[in-house]
Amino acid sequence: MTHPLDPLTAAEITHAVATFRSQHDDEKAFFSSAGLVEPPKDKVKAGADVPRIVRLLGVDKTPDGGFAADVNLDAGEASISRLPGNAQAPYGFADLGLAVVLTKQNEEWLVAVAKRGIATATEEDLELIQIDPWPAGGFAHSAIPEGHRAVRCIAFVREDETDNGYARPIHGLIAHVDITARQVIAIEDNGVVPMPTASGRFDSPSQSLTRTDLKELAITQPDGPSFSVDGYKVNWQGYEFRVGIHPVNGLVLHQLSLRDRPVLYRAALSEMVVPYGDSDPMHSWKHVLDASEYNMGQLINSLKLGCDCLGEIHYFDIDQITHEGAVKRVENAICMHEEDYGIQWKHYDSSSRTSEVRRSRRLVISSIFTIGNYDYGFYWYLYLDGTIQMEIKLTGIVGVSAVADGQVNAAQSPLISTELSSPVHQHVFNFRLDWELDGGSNSLYENQIEVLPMDDKNPAGTQFRSVSRQLTDEASAKRNISPEVSRYWKVTNPASINGLGQPVAYKLLPQASPALFAHADSQVARRAGFGKHHLWATPYVDGELHAAGPYTVMHEGQEGLPELTADNRDISDCDLVMWHTVAVTHVPRPEDWPVMPVEYCGFHLIPVGFFDRNPTLDLPSSCHGD
Ligand code: CO
Repeated sequence: MTHPLDPLTAAEITHAVATFRSQHDDEKAFFSSAGLVEPPKDKVKAGADVPRIVRLLGVDKTPDGGFAADVNLDAGEASISRLPGNAQAPYGFADLGLAVVLTKQNEEWLVAVAKRGIATATEEDLELIQIDPWPAGGFAHSAIPEGHRAVRCIAFVREDETDNGYARPIHGLIAHVDITARQVIAIEDNGVVPMPTASGRFDSPSQSLTRTDLKELAITQPDGPSFSVDGYKVNWQGYEFRVGIHPVNGLVLHQLSLRDRPVLYRAALSEMVVPYGDSDPMHSWKHVLDASEYNMGQLINSLKLGCDCLGEIHYFDIDQITHEGAVKRVENAICMHEEDYGIQWKHYDSSSRTSEVRRSRRLVISSIFTIGNYDYGFYWYLYLDGTIQMEIKLTGIVGVSAVADGQVNAAQSPLISTELSSPVHQHVFNFRLDWELDGGSNSLYENQIEVLPMDDKNPAGTQFRSVSRQLTDEASAKRNISPEVSRYWKVTNPASINGLGQPVAYKLLPQASPALFAHADSQVARRAGFGKHHLWATPYVDGELHAAGPYTVMHEGQEGLPELTADNRDISDCDLVMWHTVAVTHVPRPEDWPVMPVEYCGFHLIPVGFFDRNPTLDLPSSCHGD
C-alpha cells in the first residue's frame, strides 16, 4: 500500500510518461525530472484518499523554457502547460549533452584548443576533452536572446578515461552555448595558460604507497539493528518518520515524531548555491544553484557497503526518470544505520567511587549527490536524547585555474599545487524545516545572552542573563547568527505545556556560519537572496518549498524567500516553517588537492523543555563488552 508521501515507483513513472505521451505527441520531448507532487498537508494528516500526482518537467520542440505536466495517476490524465514567463525546466541530460556536442563541433573552439597544444585530430583525442556545462543564469552572453536556455562550457583534458577529470583545465576558454537555438554563440578566449603537467590522480593504484598498518575495524550488531522499517517508514528508539527523495531537495524526512509526539512534518534541503569570489573571468560568474538548476536529487549516488557506509545497513532504493522517459533504478540510494557516538552522559561520584555512564548512539540517514566536480553528503542524525542534527559532508574536487609562472592572485585564488590555484568560494545551503511541534500552532523566539551593566546590582561585572523575544512576523524573523551572544532560535508550542509549566520547545542551534558575501545588488544575491539571512520564517502554505523559487534556470530571482516574505505575513502563532541558511567559505588549501578531505557543516535541533528531564535515564547501564 503506497503512502501519499512515498517516493515514486518505477511503475508510477512509467505510467506518468505514457499518460503524458498519449496527450503530448512530441518525439523531441526530453525529461529533466519526475517528482511526486506532495498532497496538501491537511489531507495527508487527515488520512484522506489523495491522488498520486507526478510532475514531469522537461523540454521539447517548442523553443521556450519547457513544459510542466502534472499527471494524475489515479485519473490517468495529464495537465500539461508551458512554464510561465521566463521560468525554465531544470537542466537535464538532453540540454547538457547537446551543449557538449555543440562545443566539440565548433571550429573556433577547436582552433582555440589546438592553440594550447591539445590534440583534437581524432575522435579519441576529443573524447579525452571533458566539457563541463555551467548554468549561465544571471550571466548569459549578450548575444543570447532572453528566454533562451544557455550554458557556459569550460573544459579539461584527461590522460585517459580514469584520470582526474579536473587536473588539466583548458584555462581561459569558455564556449557560450544557446541551447534553445542549438548553437555556440561565442567563444571567449581570455588567453593561453600552459597546461598543467602534474598528475592529479587519486585512485589507489596511482599512489606510490598504500598504508599497511591500518587493522580491520569491524562494526557488528549480532542481534541486528534496533530500527524497524516498513516500506519507507522507520521506527527507532521512539522516533517515527518517513524517508524520501525529491528531485530538487534530495533526501527528505517526513512526519517525524518522537514518542508519538509530532516534531517535524517535513525537513529537507530547499536550495543551495556555490558563489565564487574570484576576479578571473573563468570563475567570476559562477554561482550554481545545484539543487534546482541541476536537479540534485537526480544526481544521487548508489552507495557501497563497507565504503560509503559501515555496519548493519538498511538501504532504500530509488527509481528515477531518465531524460528519455525510461526508468533508472538507483540501488542503495539512501543508507540507514546506527553509529556508536561515545558517551550520552556520565558522572563519577567521589563519595561512593562509582561511575554512572551511558553510551550514546545515533541513527544515520544519508545520501550522497555528485554534481560535476563536487560531492555532497547529507546526513540526518537522530540521537537518543531527542537531538536531531543535519551534517553536510563536502568533498570531491575543487574548481581550479591553471597557473602561469607562479602568477597567483593568492587572496582570491590560492595556490593549491605547483601548477594550479583554486578560487575562493562559498557553499550556501538553505534547509526548510516544517515544524509541527506537538501538533497545532507553533511560535518562534530568538534567545541570546545579555551582559548586564556593572552597577550596584552587578558590582563584580560578572552577570549576564538569557533573554528571549518573539519573532512575530516574516520581517522580524529575517535574522543572522551572532555567536558572540550565543544566539539561537526556539520553536515553541504555546498550547502544549510541560511538567514545569513551560511551553514545550525545540531550539535551532546554528553553527558559526557566514552569510552570502555577494553584493546585495549583484545577480548572485538576486538569484540566491535566501543566502543573506541565516533565519527566515513563513506560515505554511502548500507548495511553498523553494528558497530561490521553483524554477531557477536563467531566472532573475523570482519567488524566492525575499518575495515569499514580501507581504510580511504574521507568524506569531501559526503552522510554522523555518528556513535555515548554513554556509561555509572555502579558501582552498594544498590539502584539498587532488581530492578534498571531507569538510563539514550543519546545524542541531535540540529539545528545550520538550521533556521534563533528561530523557535518557532509562538507557541500560550495561556497557559494551559487559
Ligand atoms: Co568548496
